[in-house]
Amino acid sequence: MECSYFGKCGSCTLYALDYEAQVTHKKEAMQTLFESLHVKKFDFFESASEHYRGRAEFRIWKEGEKISYAMGAMDKKGAVCIDACPKVEERIDTLMPKLLKAIEDVRVLRERIFAIEFLSSSEHLLVTLIYHKPLDEAWEEEAKKLEKAFGIFVIGRSRGMKKVFSQDFVEERFSLEGKAYRYHIIEGGFSQPNRAMNQKMIGWVLSHLESCEDLLELYCGYGNFTLPMAGKFKKVLATEISKTSIASALKNCELNDVSNITFLRLSAEELTSALNKERVFNRLAGIDLDAYAFSHVFVDPPRSGMDEKSLAFISRFETIIYISCNLQTLKRDLEVLSQNYSIEHFALFDQFPNTEHLESGVILKRL
Ligand SMILES: C[S@@+](CC[C@H](N)C(=O)[O-])C[C@H]1O[C@@H](n2cnc3c(N)ncnc32)[C@H](O)[C@@H]1O
Repeated sequence: MECSYFGKCGSCTLYALDYEAQVTHKKEAMQTLFESLHVKKFDFFESASEHYRGRAEFRIWKEGEKISYAMGAMDKKGAVCIDACPKVEERIDTLMPKLLKAIEDVRVLRERIFAIEFLSSSEHLLVTLIYHKPLDEAWEEEAKKLEKAFGIFVIGRSRGMKKVFSQDFVEERFSLEGKAYRYHIIEGGFSQPNRAMNQKMIGWVLSHLESCEDLLELYCGYGNFTLPMAGKFKKVLATEISKTSIASALKNCELNDVSNITFLRLSAEELTSALNKERVFNRLAGIDLDAYAFSHVFVDPPRSGMDEKSLAFISRFETIIYISCNLQTLKRDLEVLSQNYSIEHFALFDQFPNTEHLESGVILKRL
């Protein structure tokens, strides 16, 4: 990837290496990190080396009436103004300068704007404009014009305020193993940033599912993995802390006509207490937890990894599928799990080219 801000913008750190060399570097780093766990074999899924991010956030820098996109500087001192970012999907890249100019030209859109977020899917592009001021009717009138002019969905946000004109979600469609999936991905909820890699991750998980009874999922988001996995299990119980994501997940069940999943808004810690019968939750009323025969547990925690209690809790299931966006916390958790489990499959998904970050998947079987 070519970028005139390499070395100045703090977002890309592996810019000195071409993509092939980055892959070699990441494979070597992975081997060193997991040496003590005797991981010798792993799959590596390469990404496109540019235009791979479907989700991107930029700060807005102002000088008089001129505005620019900005990213944190490499030396962590302040920001770097940029006029393009080759990491983002082409439709975002194409829109960025035109949108900025349209905002700059209209005082009510320009004043006190401090960030712009882009969320792209196979069907739509949604843009969130974030302000340090209340959004009034004059702002609404101009923001609606942006939707029409660029064929996008626009959302306005300011403290305690969210303005939606058309819709606050994008629709993502893809097919895997001959089956078509549709998702509503809501603005503000979690979504995987590299859409092509996301499909590779789901495909990899599906290809390794066997002897399936019931599935327990923690950190399920909007059902990204849940819906395709549900086709392989009798029943699924999937949980997540975010109300927004659970609302999307329920919608996605409807859209895909899937009826064997129960989605619940429960944190991993709460679910652990409930299944350990330490606490009773109203949100579990009418759900017979004893009716599940969980053969698999699937976890995809945030960067911090799993809390100790939840980690101990999942160590009772036959098969654990662990997706992680942080190799350090994954290693920490695998050091605990590998006392009672063998690592059957390990895969790396290069969701974040040009950075040291990697997404990973591990399948563990109880010894
Ligand atoms: C890495 S995302 C994965 C989501 C989903 N698997 C996907 O692929 O889109 C982690 C998810 O965990 C949720 N989360 C964060 N802390 C949590 C907790 N303590 N308990 C349950 N869910 C949590 C977040 O809201 C987020 O949706």
